[in-house]
Amino acid sequence: MTKKPCIIVSAPVPADLRQLLEASCDTVDVPMGKSPLEVLPQEQWSQIDGMVCTVKTRVDAALLDAMPALKVVSNFAVGFDNVDMNAANERKVLVCNTPGVLDGAVADLTIGLMLCVARNLVAGDAFVRSGAWTKGAFPLATDIRGKTLGLLGMGRIGRVVARTARAFDMDVIYHNRRQDTEAEAEGIARYVSRDELFAQSDVLSVHIPLAPETRKSIGAREFGMMKKTAIFLNTARGAVVDEDALIDALKNGVIAGAGLDVMTTEPLPADSPLTQLPNVVLQAHIGSATVETRRAMIDLAVHNLVNAMTGNQPKAIVNAEAWPLAREAQPA
Ligand code: GLV
Repeated sequence: MTKKPCIIVSAPVPADLRQLLEASCDTVDVPMGKSPLEVLPQEQWSQIDGMVCTVKTRVDAALLDAMPALKVVSNFAVGFDNVDMNAANERKVLVCNTPGVLDGAVADLTIGLMLCVARNLVAGDAFVRSGAWTKGAFPLATDIRGKTLGLLGMGRIGRVVARTARAFDMDVIYHNRRQDTEAEAEGIARYVSRDELFAQSDVLSVHIPLAPETRKSIGAREFGMMKKTAIFLNTARGAVVDEDALIDALKNGVIAGAGLDVMTTEPLPADSPLTQLPNVVLQAHIGSATVETRRAMIDLAVHNLVNAMTGNQPKAIVNAEAWPLAREAQPA
C-alpha cells in the first residue's frame, strides 16, 4: 500500500472537507496561527508533506528548512504575505491561495466603508442611541455620487469595486503597475499616474498586495498630495501604509477621513491612536468574513492542497514555476 502524504491542518476546515482531505492524506492539527515548529514534536517535522493554513502562520526559511519534505503550502487567503516567497521559490515549495472567490465580499466592504465614512454612519448611530437627536439635527455629511474614486491596484477586487462604484455614478480612476486594458475597454475605470491618482481622488481605495516593495509605500508624501476633503480606504493590508503618517494626516486635517479594515498590527490594540480618531471607521479585517465567502475560500484551499498532493494541478497557484517540481517530489 502506498503511504499517504502527511499534511498539517491549521485552518477552519469543515467536516465534509476534512473527509476529503483524509481520503488522500494523513492529517496533523496545528491550532490556527501557531507555528507548527512550536506545536509538533521535532521527530514529526520531516514527515510533513503539505499544509493548509491561514495568513497568521508564518512560512519562512526556518520553517521550510525544518520541514524538508514540505512541498505544498495552501493558504486560506488570497494574500500570501505570510509566506516568504523567495524562500519558497528557492526550495521549490508550491504556494496556493484563494483568488476570485472573495472579490465580491471585499468589494462590498470597501463600498460599505466608503458610505460609512462619507455619510458618518457610525457616529449617526451613536447620535440616535444616545438621544442627542432630541436636542438637534445630525451634522451634514458628504455625497459620494458624482465624486472621483481612485483605486490603487486594479486586480480582481479593484475591478469589482470599480464596477460597483459606477452604480453610484462615481468617476473611477486607477493606477496599477500594468495598465488594465480590459477594465478600460469595459469602460469602468481610467488609468492615471500614481501621483495623479492621489491628487485627483475624492475617495482613494487601496487594493495592492503586501510585498517587500509595497511595504509602507503610502506615506506622508502621498497623503500630502491628497485633497483635504478626501477619504482614504484600506481593505488590502495595513502594512502597505505608513500608519504613523496616516494618523498624522487624519489628526491634522491633511485628509478628511479613513475607513480601515486592516492595520499594521492586528488585532489592533485598544490603545492605538487610531481608536481615538473620530474621522475613522475601523473594522476587524472582515473583508472576506461572510459565511458564503469563507466557505468558498476553504473549499478552494482544501481542493488546492488535495490536488497538489495527488499530482493534479491545483486551480490557484501563486508560483507556477514550482508546480512540476513539487509534483515530482510527491511521495510514491
Ligand atoms: C484576506 O485578507 C485574504 O488575503 O484573503
